[in-house]
Amino acid sequence: MIRSAICGIGIALPERVVKNAELEKIVKTSDEWIVQRTGIRQRYVAGEGETTVSLGAQAARNALDSAGLSIKDIDCIILATSTADHTFPASATEIQKILGMTLGFAFDIQAVCSGFIFALATADLYLRGEMVKRVLVIGSETFSRILNWKDRTTCVLFGDGAGAVVLEAIEGRGAIQDQGILASKLRSDGRHMEKLYVDGGPSMTQTTGHLRMEGREVFKYAIGMITDVVDACFNIAGIGPESLDWFVPHQANKRIIDASARKLGIADEKVVVTIGEHGNTSAASVPLALAVAVNDGRIRKGDLIMLEAMGGGFTWGAMLLRW
Ligand code: UT7
Repeated sequence: MIRSAICGIGIALPERVVKNAELEKIVKTSDEWIVQRTGIRQRYVAGEGETTVSLGAQAARNALDSAGLSIKDIDCIILATSTADHTFPASATEIQKILGMTLGFAFDIQAVCSGFIFALATADLYLRGEMVKRVLVIGSETFSRILNWKDRTTCVLFGDGAGAVVLEAIEGRGAIQDQGILASKLRSDGRHMEKLYVDGGPSMTQTTGHLRMEGREVFKYAIGMITDVVDACFNIAGIGPESLDWFVPHQANKRIIDASARKLGIADEKVVVTIGEHGNTSAASVPLALAVAVNDGRIRKGDLIMLEAMGGGFTWGAMLLRW
């Protein structure tokens, strides 16, 4: 049977690093509060000329380099983002132009912080359906551009960045030992929309709007939702947390990551945590964390990895894959 395996990974981060101390000058906050409540020490903030498209294109180039491939080898680009450069066209087609891809197709997926998992699951179906051979899956965000920088309850939490992978169709045996995506579970529940949303949009307000979040409310649901979809993936694959080598969660809050891992029975040393350096980069957070653990040598060929994310909508999802 066909499996979708990651054969390359790359990232791109803006030049400017903003440490917590810098935010103390903008809003009534403290490094101590931010670190204790979230685990965030710094985030990257896009400057002039750095956009969701430019960061996404750079991450994609790096992923292609690491796969030893060129853009000619790619049939499809799927970009997960909630911060597109334009209302339309899809930022994925702008990335397609920058990379020089004139064949195939490209489009955006909008599932906020869960976007990268939704994009991977979509790419997996195209690959297993034999519609394409290789897909560039990108998560790229510039949340700094939709934050209200006077709102201390949100502006300290988010950062900008991009991560990308090349997913390739390979032959598997239909066994848990196969390389590639082994199980996925996606969910959404629109009843929670008002807990985390952007208060603008072309049809409603003709403005871009700003992010609004009832943080405590989101926190209340996050752990239950994350652990549900992760457990669903364990069940589909017929394995338990002890078989896992790495847990690569969405980086929204260190306390959510710790509590989810504890509830799932995943040991601390298997959890990849990058929130301290990146903050919450929404759809970019999972590929950024994955790339960090691949590049520092923690994740090795054959390792079993669980990805998960939860965010606005609500949307949430998990994916089990073998590196
Ligand atoms: O990626 C999408 C999914 N998003 C999430 O998963 C986020 C989920 N939520 C969270 O991570 C947490 O709820 C937050 C980090 C957003 C907030 O942490 P919390 O422990 O839930 O704090 P809280 O909202 O209950 O606020 C506690 C206190 C409040 O003051 P009072 O009412 O107790 O006097 C806030 O006004 O902390 C205050 N506060 C701050 N103080 C200093 C809120 N933001 C700040 C701040 N600096 N930046």
